[in-house]
Amino acid sequence: MNALLAATPVPRDLPLPLPVPEWLLVFCLVVFFLVHILFVNLMVGGSVLVVVLEWLGLKNKRWDALAHEIAQTITVNKSLAVVMGIGPLLCINLLYTMQWYSANALTGHAWLLIVPLVITAFLLTYLHKYTWDSWTTGGRKTLHQLTGIAAALLFLFIPLIFLANVNLMLIPSEWEKVKGFFSALSIGNVLPRYLHFMAASLAMTGLFLAGWLGRQGSDFSHLDGFTRPELRRFFYTICARVTLAQFVLGPLLLFTLPSAGITTQVYVIIFSGASLGLLTLWVLFGELKRPDATIGSRYWLIVLLFSLVVLGMGSGRHVYREAALAAHKTQIKERTERYYTALAEFNKAHAAMPQVAEQSPEQLFMNCAACHAPNVKLVGPPLTEIAQIYAGNPDGIVAWAKAPGKKRPELPQMPPMIHLGEANLRKIAELMLIKGAAAAAK
Ligand code: HEC
Repeated sequence: MNALLAATPVPRDLPLPLPVPEWLLVFCLVVFFLVHILFVNLMVGGSVLVVVLEWLGLKNKRWDALAHEIAQTITVNKSLAVVMGIGPLLCINLLYTMQWYSANALTGHAWLLIVPLVITAFLLTYLHKYTWDSWTTGGRKTLHQLTGIAAALLFLFIPLIFLANVNLMLIPSEWEKVKGFFSALSIGNVLPRYLHFMAASLAMTGLFLAGWLGRQGSDFSHLDGFTRPELRRFFYTICARVTLAQFVLGPLLLFTLPSAGITTQVYVIIFSGASLGLLTLWVLFGELKRPDATIGSRYWLIVLLFSLVVLGMGSGRHVYREAALAAHKTQIKERTERYYTALAEFNKAHAAMPQVAEQSPEQLFMNCAACHAPNVKLVGPPLTEIAQIYAGNPDGIVAWAKAPGKKRPELPQMPPMIHLGEANLRKIAELMLIKGAAAAAK
């Protein structure tokens, strides 16, 4: 462990105050993130479902109609996903500046690639949605399907970049070994995390569509023979089966997490969440057994239970992150304190250095006297000449002495005297004018 820590890069912090209390930032981070990831889930899960259902629709038209209906929701959900993602990004930047920056820098190319990939995915999604009827009737169904597949593949890939970053941020001991995005993918437990996320996407999309397409006011005339109970049952089933699979994927994720962040508290939170998940699943399977007339009557209870499960998992995630980074955060703090102590000591030692005794104008003038005499031209012009040019303008002499020009062709260039300091030059200048005027009066 100590050898590991020794190899861990420990940056120095800039101890600037947080703009709001830390607990508020943590609260915003957890809540905004969950809202953001919910819409990401609906966007990713929706685009995968659309691809599958459109393919089923080749045999039976009604699946195609259903796929088209779902495609209408993706563009809205993706806009909300993006907008709601800004909050957690800002919070994480403030709370984990050093670790977040390091992870972003280490996966830099992939991190920047998110922008063009997201833009492309969005454009493809709109294209897929708006060309549904025209390309289908125009004999370009395959091209249409390929557009949907391309968008879905991008949506499946982009979360990997985020996951690689969020994961890398938690393991500072790996930073020096990482060589870009692909190597970041191979450390820690990116893959189990990804599977857990994908399953959540499908489950949430199922739950959402069971509510959205099964809602009272919705119109089924264009959905070729689907009934409301049938749709509710279909999407509930997706949600239930995938959630069941989470009971395998969840533990897989938990047991592959780097052990640094696993504490009793994390276990307690995760297992409470999982128990609540079991209860949710039980209610969900009960709902599936209901007759057509009442299926869906427990919908909001299920939504509430799911929200609690997700909130629990989101909090567990935060507690894990805090525990995983505790040692690194302490090291950064110590290092920062050492730096500022050393800086203070240096400044104190510097201030205690014996001051050079203040020099009189006459002493200072010795710096010029070798080249400037009262009446005769030495290397430079005599003081009488200087006093004539600069009468009443000592600042002009200071300015010249700081950065001499080249004026007299017969004389060499004067060396700059800026090292004497402005205040000293000013004293010299005043003395020069007095001496020059006195020499001229004789
Ligand atoms: C190594 C010789 C040398 C030293 C030392 C020197 N000067 Fe000069 N100084 C010159 C020369 C040569 C010129 C003429 C340069 C020209 O006209 O191109 C000059 C010109 C000047 C002029 C006239 C500028 C003008 O506008 O015509 C001033 C004023 C002057 N020096 C101030 C100073 C002051 C103040 C110091 C001391 C802090 C100083 N010099 C030290 C060589 C020196």
